[in-house]
Amino acid sequence: MESNLHFTVMKQEAVKNLKIKNNGIYLDATLGMGGHTEEISNTKKNINKIICIDNDLSSIELAKIRLKKSRTKIEFICANFKDIDKVIKEKVDGVILDLGISTYQLLNSKRGFSFNGNNKLDMRINLKQTLTADKIVNSYSVKEISDLLKKYGEEKNHFKIASEIVRYRSKKKISTCEDLSEIINKINKNKSNINPSTRTFQALRIAVNKELDAIEEFLEKSEKILNTGGRLVIITFHSLEDRIVKRFFKSSESKCICPPTQLICDCKKKQTFKIISKKPIRPTEQEILLNPSSRSAKMRIGEAI
Ligand SMILES: C[S@@+](CC[C@H](N)C(=O)[O-])C[C@H]1O[C@@H](n2cnc3c(N)ncnc32)[C@H](O)[C@@H]1O
Repeated sequence: MESNLHFTVMKQEAVKNLKIKNNGIYLDATLGMGGHTEEISNTKKNINKIICIDNDLSSIELAKIRLKKSRTKIEFICANFKDIDKVIKEKVDGVILDLGISTYQLLNSKRGFSFNGNNKLDMRINLKQTLTADKIVNSYSVKEISDLLKKYGEEKNHFKIASEIVRYRSKKKISTCEDLSEIINKINKNKSNINPSTRTFQALRIAVNKELDAIEEFLEKSEKILNTGGRLVIITFHSLEDRIVKRFFKSSESKCICPPTQLICDCKKKQTFKIISKKPIRPTEQEILLNPSSRSAKMRIGEAI
């Protein structure tokens, strides 16, 4: 069954690369609408259980409905995957991480992720958190906003947009996503088919949810939660995420970090992962036609040593 709330990206490729085995325990650390979990559960293996994590309680509630007829035991946990070492008690045989947000979250007007509409600027994945996009846009300094747009959005007009935001809010609060989009449109004239607000909204979402820090923290801990031979399958949607994953696998695969001029190795570095995907796996043309938002997806896979 395909959920009409989210098109699961590279579902077959992800599950094939997890190398599901009988009696294995699997972790879906970005449950969303449950698409990958459903596909794992539908494999012919007798899986011990699937542990599902999401930092958004409402996504978990929806996924529970979708998965209620699943033939596999499923455990649901509302948590940030960066805290993985605190929230799961046993080691697992495979992990899927499908980063970002779901279409359900993007199109839900109350969540304030989308640049269209009269929605409040929110962008929190976990609604218990206090930092919102509204707070950043209406209280951070020009420098803070500009730095964040540069770092997390790779927005070339970062300073101009930040200055316009601060100029506008000195007269009137920036209340909605539409207000912010209009400010950005004054600076970024639409010359391509990418919405002029894309990079600013991406940057704000990453900053609000500290998304890149969470990925780094999870990756650092991943070796400890995977059994030997367990696969870590990661789907990213933009270059900042992909860079972190690529670097992590490269450094985990290396057996030595001594300078090249040193003849005898004394670094005691251990290899923790073997890279399975030398090049990232991309969605097929057919998948992109069916689901255009999958076009930027890249899948990388590592196997715990
Ligand atoms: C792209 S969606 C996953 C879609 C899912 N694979 C499916 O097919 O339905 C990403 C999900 O990860 C969750 N998420 C993002 N960052 C998270 C984090 N740091 N910890 C836990 N969940 C997170 C989001 O709330 C969202 O539901």
